[in-house]
Amino acid sequence: MSDSEDSQLEARLAEQEVFEPPESFVEQANVSDPAIYEEFEDDWPACWERAADLLDWETEYDEVLVDDDEPFYEWFTGGELNASANCLDRHLDSRGDELAIQWEGELGETRAYTYEELHREVNEFAAALRDLGVEEDDVVTMYMPMIPELPVAMLACARIGAPHSVVFAGFSADALATRMNSAESEYLVTCDGYYRRGDGLDHLSKANEGLGGVDHETTTVVVDRLGDELEHELGADQIDYDELVADHEGAAVEPVTRDAEDMLFLMYTSGTTGQPKGVKHTTGGYLSYVSWTSHAVLDVKPEDTYWCSADIGWITGHSYIVYGPLALGTTSVMYEGTPDYPDKDRMWDIVESYGVNQLYTAPTAIRAFMKWGSEYPEQHDLSSLRLLGTVGEPINPKAWKWYYKHIGDESCPVVDTWWQTETGGMMITTLPGIGTMKPGTAGPPLPGIDAQVVDTEGAEVEPGEAGYVTVNKPWPGMLRTLYKNDERFLEEYWQEYSDEGEDEWVYFPEDGAKIDDDGYITILGRVDDVINVSGHRLGTMEVESAIVGVEGVAEAAVVGGDHDLKGEAVYAYVILEDGYEESEEMSDRIIEGVEDAIGPIARPEQVIFTPELPKTRSGKIMRRLLEDIANGEELGNTSTLRNPEIVEDIERKVSGD
Ligand code: WT7
Repeated sequence: MSDSEDSQLEARLAEQEVFEPPESFVEQANVSDPAIYEEFEDDWPACWERAADLLDWETEYDEVLVDDDEPFYEWFTGGELNASANCLDRHLDSRGDELAIQWEGELGETRAYTYEELHREVNEFAAALRDLGVEEDDVVTMYMPMIPELPVAMLACARIGAPHSVVFAGFSADALATRMNSAESEYLVTCDGYYRRGDGLDHLSKANEGLGGVDHETTTVVVDRLGDELEHELGADQIDYDELVADHEGAAVEPVTRDAEDMLFLMYTSGTTGQPKGVKHTTGGYLSYVSWTSHAVLDVKPEDTYWCSADIGWITGHSYIVYGPLALGTTSVMYEGTPDYPDKDRMWDIVESYGVNQLYTAPTAIRAFMKWGSEYPEQHDLSSLRLLGTVGEPINPKAWKWYYKHIGDESCPVVDTWWQTETGGMMITTLPGIGTMKPGTAGPPLPGIDAQVVDTEGAEVEPGEAGYVTVNKPWPGMLRTLYKNDERFLEEYWQEYSDEGEDEWVYFPEDGAKIDDDGYITILGRVDDVINVSGHRLGTMEVESAIVGVEGVAEAAVVGGDHDLKGEAVYAYVILEDGYEESEEMSDRIIEGVEDAIGPIARPEQVIFTPELPKTRSGKIMRRLLEDIANGEELGNTSTLRNPEIVEDIERKVSGD
C-alpha cells in the first residue's frame, strides 16, 4: 500500500464510528442469528440450558435455577459432573491426539500437550495430591507463573474435588500468606523460578517467605522450572513435582462426582477494604457459563488454535485459557513471558508460528503495541486471525481502531468484553457474528443478561447520561458468595440496589457507565476505591495499609491517576511522622514496602510528601481532589475544605515545580 493510500485509510478509519461484522466471519460464526436475544429473554431462565448442554453431566439437573434463598442462587440444582472430565476425558475419543495446550517459554522453548498427554499428567498429579493427603473440599493454593504445570495442577484438583486458589506469581510473599491463611489452605504448589526478559527469577524464596507467614502446617510441591539455572533446596515438607509425577506414572484417578453447586475454585480479588475477597465459583454454573461465552463470544471451535494472553493468576486466565477453551476441546496457547522479549514482535511471532485464530488480550497491551509501532506486526503473517478480543479496562476508540486495522487487517470482529472476577465470565459485549461494533463501547448485555445503567435511586438513566451498572437477574457464572463471609457478600454486592422487602435482588458491580439509545453500554470505570492498573484490580486501602506499614509514615492516601500505558497508575500522598525527612530514600522505602506487601504491579508511580491531606470539614479525605491533582486537571471549588491552603502546595509537588 502506498503512503498516501495508507493515510487515506487512516483518515477514513478515524472518522468511522460503527463497524459491521465481516461477512466471512458471520458465515461461519457459532452464533449468528439475532433472534437469540429474544429467545433468551422469552425463555429465561430455561435459556441457560443451552450453556449446560455444552457439558457432559453424570446426573442431569432437576432445575435450572433455584431462587428460594436470594441472593444465594443455585444453578443446575441436582446436576452432577466433574470439571476435569469435561475438559479432558470426554475429548479423548475424538480429539485425544489433538493439542490441548501449546506452551511457549520465554526463551523460545516449546512444550505441547495433546489431550491424551494432558489427561495422563493430570491423572498422575491427581493421584500424587491424594497421596499427599489432599481430600475432597481441601483448598489447594497455587503460586505459579505461566508454566503448563499450573493448568495441570488446577485440573488435577478439579478431578479430586479439591478447590484451587491460584495466587498470581507477581504477588508478594505477604499476599500469598494472607490468602493461604484466609482459605485455611494446607497445600501449596509452586516452582523454583521462571524467566523474565531472559533472566532466571527466583520464585521459591518468595514462596518460602510467604509460607513463613502461614499460621498452620503446610505441604508444598515444587516444580523445577529452571533446572541448573537456579539451584534450590527443598525443605522437609517440600516435594519435587517431577518425582511425585514419576512415582505415580500411569496412575488413573476416577473423576470425583461433584454437585453442580460444589466449589470449583476460589479466587481472591481486591475490594474496598484491605482484606482481599475470596470469590467462590462453582462446578456446574461456572463451567457452563465460561463454555457458553467461549463458544458464543470467542467463537471457539475444537479445530481452532486460540490464544488468550492473560496470566492464569487472574480470572481471565482461569475462564479463558483453562476452563472455557479446554471444555470445548480446542487448542489453548500459553506464553510464559513478556510481549517485548527478545523483541517487540514476540506476540506476532507466536500468532504466526502457531496459526492463532483468536487473540484475546488487554487494552494496556494494545496501547503498548501502538506505541511500538505497526512495523512489528507487519513483519509477520497474521492472516490466521479470525477474531480479536479485549478485556480488563475500557479501550479508547483510537486503540480499538489500531487493533482492528493493524492486527485484524479489518477482517476480524473485535469484542470488547466487560466482566469481573465475580461474574465468572463475560457479561457485556457484542456477539461477533451479530452485533454492529462501536469502538470504545463494550456493547449490549449478552443474551440472558439483564444489565442496566441506573442512577443512585436505581432508576434507569437517560441515554448519554452517566450512571451505574447493575445486573438485575442472576446468571450461571455468578459468584455464589465470598469464602466464609456471606455477610460481606451481601454487603458488597447486594445492599446498594436491592429492595429486600419487595424481594428484588440487584447485583452491583461497582462500575460507572453510560448507555446509548441503542442499548450499547460504555463502561466508565470503577466507582469504589479500586484502581485498575494495566487491567489489574488494586484496592487503594491495600496499598495505603502497605505504605502506613513503612517506618516513619503517619498517614497515606492512594488514588489512581491517568497513565498512557497502564490506564491508571498509583499516586501515593504521604504524611511522615515527626523526625522523618522527605527524601528520595524515604520514597524508595515506601515503594519497596508496597512491592513487599502486594507486588510490583502496585508500585506507586509517584510518592508525594505532604504535611496534610485535603479533608472535608467532617474529616473525610477528598480523594476526588487528589485524583484531579494527579491528572493535572483544573480544580473546582476547594473552599469547603477544612484546609484549602494545602491544595496548592500539593499541586506544586506533583507537577514538580
Ligand atoms: C473490573 C474487573 C474481567 C477480567 C479482568 C479483570 C474493569 C473489565 C472491562 C471492559 C471497561 C472493564 C471493570 C471491572 N473492566 N473489563 N471491557 N471495559 N472496563 O477482572 O480484576 O475482577 O476487574 O475491570 O472496572 O469492574 P477484575
